[in-house]
Formats: sequence, C-alpha cells, structure tokens
Amino acid sequence: MKTRVKLGVAVAASLMLAGGQAMSKEYKVGVLLPFSGVYAGLGAHIENGFKLGLEHYGADLGSDTITMVRSDTEAKPAASLAKTKKMVLQDKVDVLVGVVSSAVLGGMRDFVHNSGTPLVVANAGNDHMTGEKCSPNIVRVSFSNSQINRPVGGWLAKQGVKTAYLMAPDYAAGHQMMEAFKKTFTEAGGTIVGEAYPPLQGTKDYGPYITAAKAAKPDAIYTFFAGGAAITFVKQYHDFGVKKDIPLYGAGFLTSAAYVHVQGEAADGTVAALHYVPAIDTPENKKFQDAYQAAHQKVGSEFAVAGYDAAHLIVQAIKKSGGDKDAFKAALSKAEFNGPRGPLRIDPATNNVVQNIYLFKNEFKDGKVVQTILDTIPDVQDAPNGCSM
Ligand code: PHB
Repeated sequence: MKTRVKLGVAVAASLMLAGGQAMSKEYKVGVLLPFSGVYAGLGAHIENGFKLGLEHYGADLGSDTITMVRSDTEAKPAASLAKTKKMVLQDKVDVLVGVVSSAVLGGMRDFVHNSGTPLVVANAGNDHMTGEKCSPNIVRVSFSNSQINRPVGGWLAKQGVKTAYLMAPDYAAGHQMMEAFKKTFTEAGGTIVGEAYPPLQGTKDYGPYITAAKAAKPDAIYTFFAGGAAITFVKQYHDFGVKKDIPLYGAGFLTSAAYVHVQGEAADGTVAALHYVPAIDTPENKKFQDAYQAAHQKVGSEFAVAGYDAAHLIVQAIKKSGGDKDAFKAALSKAEFNGPRGPLRIDPATNNVVQNIYLFKNEFKDGKVVQTILDTIPDVQDAPNGCSM
C-alpha cells in the first residue's frame, strides 16, 4: 500500500535551485510493523501515531512530499528481513520506520547497518542494537528494554518487596527486561525466587506458570508481556485469584493504554513502569491525546506515541538537512524535543533515546481502569554498553 502525504512550506527555501525555482523532493518511508500475530494491535497504534505526527509536524514542509510503503512483519524475523531487503533494494526507501519485536530488529540489524538506509525504531527495545551492535544507521525513539526495567528494581525494593518471581516471553525482549530488573533488584538487597519464560507466540494457558509462581511464595511477581499475551496473562492472573497475596508488577506494556480497557477489572492493582502514560499532564500530551482520540475514538498508547515521535524526528531531520542524505542521518542522531511523553533526546553516543520513566498504578473505578502516575524517574540514559560508532 502506498500513502502519499502532502506536506507544507519550510524546506522550500533551502531547496532552491540556482535559478530560484523550488526543487521538491519525495521522501519515501518504509513502514515495517506487525499487522498480524501476537503484536498485531501494536502495529496499528504505531502507524496511526506516525500518520498523526506527519500531520502535526509536517504541515510546513513546502512542496516536499512523504510517501509511505508498508509491510507486515508478522513479528517474525525471517519474513521481516526479506521485506526489509525489498523496501531498501527495490522500493528504494529513504528511511525505514517501525519494528516491534526485539528478535525482528536483531535479525535485520546487519542488513540495515550495511545498507546505508537509516532505520528509526519505533518500538523494539533490543539493548544490543544501541549497545555492542549499535549502528549509525539505527536510531531508536521508543525505549530500550533495560531502560524501562532498570529503574524498577531499586524502586520496588524501597517499597519493602524482598523477594520476586519473574515471568516473560522466551525471546530477546523477555530475557533482557528481566535481566535489567534482576540486576538492580538484587543490588538493592532483593532475592529472585524463581523465573519462567513461556513461548512468545501461541501460549494460551498461563495456568501452569502462574501455579509454579504461587508455589514459590514471592512477595511480588515481576513480568513483561505485551499485546495479546498481556491481555491473556493479566486476565488469567486475576482469575487465579493470586493477586491479593502476590501483587503483580511489570514493564508497563503489561497494562498498556492500548488494551487496558479490555483487561478491565483484571488490571486492578497492577503497578508498572513505562516511558509514556496517558495521564502525563502537559500541553504536548493534551494536543496529542485530543487529536488521537478525535481521529480514532481510542486513547493514544505508548505505541502510538512512538509512531508520533518517529514522525516528529523524521520531519525535524528533513527540515534540518535540506535534502542531503548524510545531513539527514546526522540530524536524526542529534534530535531533541518535547513530545507527549515529556522531554526526549537522542544520545549520539548510542543513538538510543534518553527520557523519563514513569511508575504508575492501575485502579478499576466506576467500570473503567484509571492509571495514575506514582513516581517519575527523570532523564534515564543507557550506558554505551560496548557501542562505538
Ligand atoms: C520487543 O520485542 O522489544 C517488545 C515488544 C513489545 C513491547 C515491548 C518490547 O511492548
């Protein structure tokens, strides 16, 4: 599918030919997102946010146009790599955007690194891609897996939680998120009493895993699940009646605004951490939420925000580079702005985003889930972790 977005005026001045005529440029964006599989709904949110970001930030781009081609990654690495190659080699896109799964990002890393076509990551948190496997071609505007979870270990220990049981899907993101939590939790004096990693795709029954966690008698369970897996896990944890004895914590994708209304009462009492919560009280977030809700009759989630900020980042880089490919790439790595999530900047040492992490609680009140921010950990930045560009 091709979508053409007509943009406004600002860059026109920098694209004047010697004779004074304006030279317009078409920027081709290759959107790689899961529109099927366990992360299907996430792809739709990111794409909606991306289009809204183009409307909000690209309105003054003169005669330049942004054209989108899109492809379903299915959250499967082999299929995604083939589709990425097609976009770069055949469609000749100027920039790639998207990718939800850490495994998909890991699978396409070498090709993107060698291709010269930049990729703006709008979800996948794979730590290595802004660590030892970083690349000048990969810029992440979403989060890293350790960035979300690292602040929670010490925070939870401070709340008096002494023992925890870990649970996450068995792939890169699940393991990286749990490792990051484990490190800071144990450094703060906590003990991990067990862990379980169910398969990412196709797990329908978390019962045996929940039963094993209960038997370990931890003070808390700490988890990462997202998309369809998060909906199923949170509902089953509620149905098993375990939450009153073993409270549920996690990376905040667990109770994302994208589907917490589907979890409903099952999400009650869950405390989680994330780089974006709809409750953030700023003019930038209000502008985003008002427009997103008017367009989609749904609350904008962290996935939609990542798409929105990816568009902001790309348009900002287009405006700064005036059509020059290298200047465009350099501008992506130096971006800084206030988005719906608060202040964010790209760290040029790793190309990962630096941002606040919010701890929030879910309460089921009057038939709906209310999310309230409990604490803000400002300006969370990853160490280079072996990255040298
Ligand atoms: C990931 O695979 O990096 C991933 C997927 C879904 C999320 C967060 C991270 O919600």
